[in-house]
Amino acid sequence: MAERKPLIAGNWKLNNNHLEAIALVQKLAFSLKDTDFDAAEIAVLPPFTNLRSVQTLVDGDKLRIVYGAQDVSAHEKGAYTGEVSGPMLAKLGCTYALAGHSERREYHREDDALVNQKVKAAFAADLTPILCLGEGLDVRKAGDQVSHTLAQLEGALKDVTAEQAARLVVAYEPVWAIGTGEVATPDDAQEVCGALRGRLGELYSDEAAGTARVIYGGSVKSDNIAGIIGQEDIDGALVGGASLKPDEFAKLARLGR
Ligand code: G3P
Repeated sequence: MAERKPLIAGNWKLNNNHLEAIALVQKLAFSLKDTDFDAAEIAVLPPFTNLRSVQTLVDGDKLRIVYGAQDVSAHEKGAYTGEVSGPMLAKLGCTYALAGHSERREYHREDDALVNQKVKAAFAADLTPILCLGEGLDVRKAGDQVSHTLAQLEGALKDVTAEQAARLVVAYEPVWAIGTGEVATPDDAQEVCGALRGRLGELYSDEAAGTARVIYGGSVKSDNIAGIIGQEDIDGALVGGASLKPDEFAKLARLGR
């Protein structure tokens, strides 16, 4: 079976200015040891305005923390006011870019077609997209979580190659678990994550499905991550609220092994 290094990524959302970002990353780096970084890839996803400061800190202090953006434009350049492109993020040393977070889908009307363009734009810039998907409460109550998330996966991966799919990160984030304190049970998370990996195998190859990482997000904390990461098809976590507290995030990242 393919070796997949776990990914623990902190999505800061709309929190922290660049000075606060520097302080948070410094505290995080101080709390983590080399063995933590050997065991898991530990990433932060700050707002765009903080990326340059994080880059300077990471490069200057040779930190092993990696970083990325919470969104990426579908376009490379041009008249797209307010957007930030993949090449701009790559130039800032970003490793990752989220695509299709449920908050973008809900508040900015992003649909699968746009998310697909963003995934491809990230790959084109040599970034690794973290493709976010997940069902709302109504879908979960109807028991349609697997078909719903598989449809989102297929929509987002149109024209994505097998070589790209093998590098992809898929983040299963059930909307009802985001910021609610209501974490999915390990079995519920595994059900969907296993189905997502299975569909990657059908769409591409066992090899691509074996190297792509599937992570879980939604109220992950240091006291519940062990059960989640213990699942066969879950390779890490996308963490919101708990990633804003450096001690808690470091603790969680250590348990994420
Ligand atoms: O992207 C992470 C996220 O949406 C989960 O947020 O606060 O429930 O960990 P939170």
